[in-house]
Amino acid sequence: MNQLDFNGRHAVVTGGATGLGFGIAQRLIASGGSVTLWDRDEEAAAKAAESLGARAFALKVDVSQHASVTQAIAATLAHAPRIDALVNSAGITGPNTKLWDYPVDAWREVMEVNINGVFLCCREVVAQMRRQGRSSEGGGYGRIVNIASVAGKEGNPNASAYSASKAAVIGLTKSLGKELADTGIRVNCVTPAAVKTAIFDQMTPEHIAFMLSKIPMGHFGTVEEVAAMVGWLCTEDCSFSTGAVFDLSGGRSTY
Ligand SMILES: NC(=O)c1ccc[n+]([C@@H]2O[C@H](COP(=O)([O-])OP(=O)(O)OC[C@H]3O[C@@H](n4cnc5c(N)ncnc54)[C@H](O)[C@@H]3O)[C@@H](O)[C@H]2O)c1
Repeated sequence: MNQLDFNGRHAVVTGGATGLGFGIAQRLIASGGSVTLWDRDEEAAAKAAESLGARAFALKVDVSQHASVTQAIAATLAHAPRIDALVNSAGITGPNTKLWDYPVDAWREVMEVNINGVFLCCREVVAQMRRQGRSSEGGGYGRIVNIASVAGKEGNPNASAYSASKAAVIGLTKSLGKELADTGIRVNCVTPAAVKTAIFDQMTPEHIAFMLSKIPMGHFGTVEEVAAMVGWLCTEDCSFSTGAVFDLSGGRSTY
């Protein structure tokens, strides 16, 4: 494992109780930093933080609720002097079904969490990052990494809400990256193909088999592979990339 420099830095990781978010938090801790896990599953987040040690904190946050996010900013800044990185990993898949059969409530819920949640967290954390002036590159300092998906580039059948929400995350990343390009804040996203986590429990076996069949490497990615790339995107070394989309798809989406 390469050594990343996240020494003395603090990250907020949404959806950090488990899966990719937890793996990213682990990597940031191993890189010398501290983290606050924002997750709606309070118990799982508390257990996750405990397993990460003294430099990890947990908060119950629903990223789709504005008040919950603003309260979480204040609660985070009560134990951390600044927020150097935000990783937006909280997400849900919604059901696997054709668009014309898609339950309207389920569509709305996917949008609430996957794109409105990313908007709310970026909105509130950027306000804080713009006040942090440690960078010599201009006003503000921060690194934002949004976990999109290969589905947002390609559009998976039987996952229209998920694909549309992740395409929106890519678009938001490009807009926000440009809006902050003259500051010390960098905003990027990653587009993983399938990685075996608890999120697989929300999908049909047919859909999982479809996703695997599309990966030229012939196997799923790993949490560690995602954490390695996201970890680097959270460091100061990621300085000349913003509004960018980083592939993590085993060769599926080489654009
Ligand atoms: N695992 C994959 O194959 C894969 C591939 C591409 C993209 N992604 C994306 O990566 C991210 C993480 O996925 P994962 O595999 O770790 O999933 P996961 O189900 O293992 O973890 C998701 C976490 O998000 C939390 N969460 C859900 N809704 C929330 C809300 N409203 N507020 C706060 N927390 C909430 C859950 O409690 C859970 O801890 C998601 O955005 C997902 O869409 C995953």
